[in-house]
Amino acid sequence: MSEFRCGDCGARPLRWEGRCSRCGAWGSVQTEVAPPAGGVRGRGAAVARPLGEVATEPLPRRPSGYLELDRVLGGGLVPGSCVLVGGEPGIGKSTLLLAACARSGGPSLYASGEEAADQVALRARRLGLGGESVLLLETNDTAQVAEALLSIRPAVCVVDSVQTLQTVDCEGAPGAPAQVRAAAEVLVPAARASGAAVLLVGQVTKEGGLAGPRTLEHAVDTVLFFEGDRHMGLRALRAIKNRYGPTDEIGLFEMRDDGLHEVREASRFLVAEQRAVGPGSVVAAVVEGRRALCVEVQALLVGDNRTAPRRRAQGADPRRAELLVGVIESLFSAEVGRRDVFANVVGGLAVHDTGLDLALAAAVLGAQWGREVPADAVVLGEVGLRGEVRTVPQLTGRLKEARAMGFRRAYVPAGTPALEGITCVPVARLHEVFPDLVAAEEVA
Ligand code: TYD
Ligand code: MG
Repeated sequence: MSEFRCGDCGARPLRWEGRCSRCGAWGSVQTEVAPPAGGVRGRGAAVARPLGEVATEPLPRRPSGYLELDRVLGGGLVPGSCVLVGGEPGIGKSTLLLAACARSGGPSLYASGEEAADQVALRARRLGLGGESVLLLETNDTAQVAEALLSIRPAVCVVDSVQTLQTVDCEGAPGAPAQVRAAAEVLVPAARASGAAVLLVGQVTKEGGLAGPRTLEHAVDTVLFFEGDRHMGLRALRAIKNRYGPTDEIGLFEMRDDGLHEVREASRFLVAEQRAVGPGSVVAAVVEGRRALCVEVQALLVGDNRTAPRRRAQGADPRRAELLVGVIESLFSAEVGRRDVFANVVGGLAVHDTGLDLALAAAVLGAQWGREVPADAVVLGEVGLRGEVRTVPQLTGRLKEARAMGFRRAYVPAGTPALEGITCVPVARLHEVFPDLVAAEEVA
């Protein structure tokens, strides 16, 4: 009897099919070893078991060859799982995943629809990757990828990219929502059936969303996002969804001429040794993912009396920056509100942590009134609408990172536990970073 079975109509085709040749359902044909995803709808009696009796086993994991990628995945690639790796064109998805194919030790399959085989081979040589364990398949046919998965049964398979795939009998041009969905409906079960960890590359639109439908995000087990400034070296890999691990980890890489390198000591990368100490430049101790990092944030204020002042923030949340400028305006003078404000986190990392607030506010205040935060000090804390400084998670972790970077002082929210080797200066309101600055309401 065939090892394949359609979960919808029960047909038993002799070989795996992306679409059941009897009932026409997409992705319904499974091997018997793997239970059909979602169960057999409406057939047979199901037995419910006490939750406590359900056996759980540690997930098998396979190293990807990059510790930073493994960290984001929650400890490595999970056999039979499907991971979507999104990111803007040129950010380094192909570079990362081709290297992961080679470094994971294989056997691996790299299915390329974006680039011709010789282009991929050229890149592999340039990156100095040994290609012995990597099989290359130049195709944009979903069924060919699925069949290769089941006949080769690689440990790791990269599909670059899901937008180039075309599925037989599916309407629409490659990259259209229906095509992307059809590809996922074939490849997710094919990953389960073959036991391969499948990584789908997904291009991202200019608006920042994954091209194709959101259903793609629902169909896969894990969604990773590769981001950074294309013109700067630093790249961050974040998990947005992860059935097999946390979603609050980040992996850091640097793009160099010879490919992506893992960044271990991120703070050294982000705070230049020769940094521009002066008004408008402040080092913050932030937490991204689970790691504490020191980052330099800069503010520049130009013009006065602008009717429509510009507010731009690179690496910081622009709405957060806008809000902080509003708080400063209300506490000090309307003058700030009529100036263009530009903020930048040096190094190209996008910081999501509100622990950046106080440093960003200090950079704007410093730029406006020519005040400097001492070169040996870091700043951390969230700022509320009345200018009050609030506490943030992982205070000790942040202080330890700052101390390791050679900082001797920290402006911190009240109640921060002391740490040997670094002097904490508690700050209740944002301008107390500069003791001689007095808010308008305090003058009255
Ligand atoms: P790529 O992996 O092709 O991006 P994606 O697949 O996300 O579109 O990366 C392309 C960019 O990376 C390209 O602009 C050149 C740069 N790059 C390097 O700087 N060093 C390298 O070793 C490689 C392979 C690419
Ligand atoms: Mg690419």
